[in-house]
Amino acid sequence: MKKECLEIVRQKCENCKACALSASRTNMVFSDGNPETARLVLIGEAPGEIEDECGRPFVGRAGQLLDEFLAEAGISRDNDLYIINTVKCRPPENRVPTQEEQAACRKFLDAQIDIIKPQAIVLCGATALKTFVETDRKRTISKLRGQWLNITVDGVEYPAITIFHPSYLLRNHSMDDGSPRRLMQQDLKEIKNRYLQDRNNTENIFAKNLEMAMV
Ligand code: URA
Repeated sequence: MKKECLEIVRQKCENCKACALSASRTNMVFSDGNPETARLVLIGEAPGEIEDECGRPFVGRAGQLLDEFLAEAGISRDNDLYIINTVKCRPPENRVPTQEEQAACRKFLDAQIDIIKPQAIVLCGATALKTFVETDRKRTISKLRGQWLNITVDGVEYPAITIFHPSYLLRNHSMDDGSPRRLMQQDLKEIKNRYLQDRNNTENIFAKNLEMAMV
């Protein structure tokens, strides 16, 4: 059912010309992940060059690094997450999407969240954070990451947590305590423990039972 509803939204996005990004895109980048099993929606900034070529979010260098962190935390990109961006088309030179571009795309973002009805939302990076939460010099991503906040989408409240964007981690290699990469590990572990622990336990028990039944 979710798949059918999302397909209607996807077709509208394919035909969308509400902002100038539609003219320069190669592909519209709708989403990734399994809408039927995803408990969490992860929102990034915007498609980059590789995403624009492939039509899938987070498949370039930043996406590959995100995959590594997710795998290490035991979060399944394919089953636990539904991945989207604040805009569906690549901004030229990978610049941050403007407020007008984000506003033009917002109805699609909201519709996707409405259909998925996630248990929680993961805001990946400062652009996704600013789309939903007021920030200022005292409320920066460094201060807000790792905190659970409530955000409202189309009148529905969702718990949301902010994590660093993997592009930022590509420029910060340190694994020292308190470093951005360490904080990313910590934040993903918190997400896993709060929303996905039981699922993987159930899946592990199922796999073990299956293994025993096969001997
Ligand atoms: N960065 C993002 O924020 N989203 C993508 O899909 C790729 C890179």
